[in-house]
Amino acid sequence: MSEFLRALDQVLGSLERLEQESDHRPRASIAALARLRLTTVPVHLDSSNKGGRLEPLRARVSTCLRCPHLAQSRTQTVFGVGNYDAELMFIGEAPGADEDRLGEPFVGRAGQLLTKIISAMGFSRDDVYIANVLKCRPDTPGRSAGNRPPTPHEMATCLPYLTEQIEIIQPRVLVALGATAVEGLLEKREAMGQLRGRWHSYRETPLMITYHPSYLLRNQSNTEKRKVWEDMLLVLERLERPISEKQRAYFR
Ligand code: URA
Repeated sequence: MSEFLRALDQVLGSLERLEQESDHRPRASIAALARLRLTTVPVHLDSSNKGGRLEPLRARVSTCLRCPHLAQSRTQTVFGVGNYDAELMFIGEAPGADEDRLGEPFVGRAGQLLTKIISAMGFSRDDVYIANVLKCRPDTPGRSAGNRPPTPHEMATCLPYLTEQIEIIQPRVLVALGATAVEGLLEKREAMGQLRGRWHSYRETPLMITYHPSYLLRNQSNTEKRKVWEDMLLVLERLERPISEKQRAYFR
C-alpha cells in the first residue's frame, strides 16, 4: 500500500506542478477519474466526512519523497493535529526537533506558548486545528542540533498538502504565525509590523497574521504580547465568540 501511495503522490505532485507552471491545466476524462477513484480508496475519497478525507491525505504525506533531502533526514512527517471541524486553524512554518520526534506540531517551547494563547482565547488544542506549511523538519546537514527556516522552494513544494487540509477542514478563520509561514502561504515577504493586526485572505478564507510564538519567547515585553493578543481579539470577534472584560484587558 505504501508503494502505491507514494506513486499516487508522485502523480499528483506532477499534476500540481503542471498546473502551476503551464498555461494548460491538466485534464482527465470523467471515466479516467472514476477509474482512479475506484482503484484508490473509494470509501475515503467519496466520503463527505472530513476525517475520512484527511486520513488518506495524511497517508500520502507520510510517504512523501518530493524533497528527497528532507525525506531522508526526517524521523517522520508532521501532518497536523486537532479538530477536523475546527472553526479556527493555526499555521506555523515547519516542525522543529521536538515535533519531528513526536510527530505533532507545536509541542516544544513555542508550542507550549501557543497552547497558552489558545486557552486564553477560550479554546483547547482539541477545539482548533494546528498545522505547518512544511510537513518535514528542515534538515541541518553537518549540525546535530538547532533548526533552520524552510526555504521558499521547500515550502512551495509542500504547500499543496496544506491547501488540501484547509479545503477539507474549511475553517472560518486562519491564523498564520510568523513571517516565514506567511511567505510560504502568500509567497510574499513583508515586515511583520506591516502584516499583522489586519485581515488578509488565503483562497477566500479570512487570514490573520501575527508573530510566531518563538518571537514572544525572545521578546517577553507586555508590549509585544499585547500585539499578539490584539490580533487574537480580532480573531475572536470575527468568530463571534464572547469576550470578557478580563480578556480584553490582558497585557494592557
Ligand atoms: N514552530 C513551527 O512553526 N511549527 C512547529 O510545529 C513548531 C515550531
